Amino acid sequence: MKGLILSGGFGTRLRPLTYTGAKQLIPVANKPIIHYGIEALARAGIKELGIVVGATSREVEQAVGNGSRWGISIQYIQQEAPLGLAHAIKVSRKFLGNDAFVMYLGDNILREGINEFVKNFNTNHPQGLILLTKVANPQEFGVAVVDAHGAVKQLIEKPKDPPSDLALVGVYIFDQHVHTAIDNIQPSWRDELEITDAIQWLLDNNYKVESHMVQGWWKDTGKPDDIIEANLLVLEDISPAQNGQVEDSTLTGRIRTGKGSVIIKSVMRGPIVIGENARIVNSYIGPFSSIGNNAVIENSEIECSVIMEGALLKNVEKRIDRSIIGKNAVINVTDQSPRTHKFILGDQSYIEIAK
Ligand code: G1P
Repeated sequence: MKGLILSGGFGTRLRPLTYTGAKQLIPVANKPIIHYGIEALARAGIKELGIVVGATSREVEQAVGNGSRWGISIQYIQQEAPLGLAHAIKVSRKFLGNDAFVMYLGDNILREGINEFVKNFNTNHPQGLILLTKVANPQEFGVAVVDAHGAVKQLIEKPKDPPSDLALVGVYIFDQHVHTAIDNIQPSWRDELEITDAIQWLLDNNYKVESHMVQGWWKDTGKPDDIIEANLLVLEDISPAQNGQVEDSTLTGRIRTGKGSVIIKSVMRGPIVIGENARIVNSYIGPFSSIGNNAVIENSEIECSVIMEGALLKNVEKRIDRSIIGKNAVINVTDQSPRTHKFILGDQSYIEIAK
């Protein structure tokens, strides 16, 4: 079985972060989101992985490499435009050959990985196996109707009036029949070749499509709040490790610190991850915070936030909460006069100031 991770798209809902990088490379607990998917596939025994890339191909290749660090081989497949999930399979036809494959959307994180899902496919050999979970907002996903045995009866992409609360998680397994399905479907109203239409074609042509329920949590990191939530969920499971230097500070709970990091006169309440060479001075870092490599935090308070590498937060005494601070961003509170706010913000940046 092969693997196919989709890492194209524009990530419009994650602007401004996606102006300068791929959404799949945004760090969650200091690790690019796409690494979670690669690890899940490698753990399930997949050795040959294709990654479908778009405009951000160079950065994705740089952050992922040839797969050797996971003991697998990785090939990159260029998709000229984000023309749909089924289109991504179409451009990967040569790499996939006639092998069964797992398709994994590169912005998804699954706590329990996909071992049981792959096992299910290898036992029952349907033409398609989809991963489902109950959600409160099914209209935002692909939605499935299944019978009492888990066989899939119908699929609808982002329905206004959802027939069930079972959402399609972005992980699927197909055998070679999916290629025939894709050759027989037309682009949707949004001009994309939809994977849901390809699966519906399999159903309409009497192929077997089954479902598997997610164990543990699942997160699709499409929007800023999802990043904060995914960061929180991943940090809940971290184990502590101290590789940095700590002086005159109080550390409680599970905390990981990277090589060369320095924590001085600060209070830290885990779970927290701190990157390499980060510097935290006279600050409070609260639960569910990730601080990237080389970030500097001085005289500031932070909680439940993702602070990326090289960011500088200085004298921010009012606590920063549920925030995402991009690479090398600076927040500096001064006592200069006149007492003004000064902002140099990129397009679609977002600031919220409580009085
Ligand atoms: C895609 C799929 C949708 C699925 C979702 C899961 O939607 O089209 O069926 O439920 O991923 O992440 P997207 O939100 O990428 O448009």
